[in-house]
Amino acid sequence: MQLAGKKVVVVGGSSGIGLATAELAKREGAQIIIASRNAERLDAIAEKMNVVAIPADVTDDKSVANLFKSCGPVDHVVVTAAQLRTGPFKSVPMEDVRSTMEGKFWGAWRVARAADIRPGGSLTLVSGFLSIRPRPNSAIVSAANGALESLARALALELAPVRVNAVSPGIIDTPIRAAMPEEARREMLAKTAASLPVGRVGVSEDIARQILSFMTIGFVTGSIVYVDGGALVT
Ligand SMILES: NC(=O)c1ccc[n+]([C@@H]2O[C@H](COP(=O)([O-])OP(=O)(O)OC[C@H]3O[C@@H](n4cnc5c(N)ncnc54)[C@H](OP(=O)(O)O)[C@@H]3O)[C@@H](O)[C@H]2O)c1
Repeated sequence: MQLAGKKVVVVGGSSGIGLATAELAKREGAQIIIASRNAERLDAIAEKMNVVAIPADVTDDKSVANLFKSCGPVDHVVVTAAQLRTGPFKSVPMEDVRSTMEGKFWGAWRVARAADIRPGGSLTLVSGFLSIRPRPNSAIVSAANGALESLARALALELAPVRVNAVSPGIIDTPIRAAMPEEARREMLAKTAASLPVGRVGVSEDIARQILSFMTIGFVTGSIVYVDGGALVT
């Protein structure tokens, strides 16, 4: 077991990529703490997995500080928390783009500042391939992802000997698109799968396995790894 005796915090651990990361790290022997906003959903998952749950909102300074006060020193921290609001550049409300940045970028920033990570441990940020493969109507997500990737590289220097990396996923089938009409969601995923060299969209565990390698390979820091089924070469 690669993470026996290690303490791992997954912020955003109640769903999708965060949940898969928590499950994988637990299978590898880690002690797991998951955090997210919806306490009811978080507690239900934590009970099922037999891990610790601490409700926290990454858009709130105090909430993030309290989370890491409760955790104490830890070995690995992963931030998958995000709620994205997008729209056409000229008309998307400023309130929406600000809230996207507040959660996805400033949320990761707050976690990086508050977490007490042991030397040699790791912080993993989750960006997204729109950072370098933009699509119309999602400029704010491209910008947030690009900023996160730069942040990971900067923090790899400033927080050393803690290692800091970012994984940049392509399209992954997670509950993040739960608000989309089901038929449109399926159609989009099928179209994406057909366009990729691997012939499928990603699953959460594809990204979780990359995050596990960031935790366990002590030579990796300042790295941005694109796990996208080949989206960047199509
Ligand atoms: N899925 C994709 O195709 C894809 C592609 C590229 C990048 N990504 C990135 O990968 C990351 C994870 O995405 P996912 O698909 O796993 O999403 P998801 O299934 O929607 O999970 C998001 C998690 O973050 C938590 N969360 C959201 N806002 C939060 C906040 N303010 N404070 C604390 N927790 C918060 C959610 O729980 P609560 O709502 O209860 O707080 C949930 O546990 C995101 O950064 C996303 O942008 C995803």
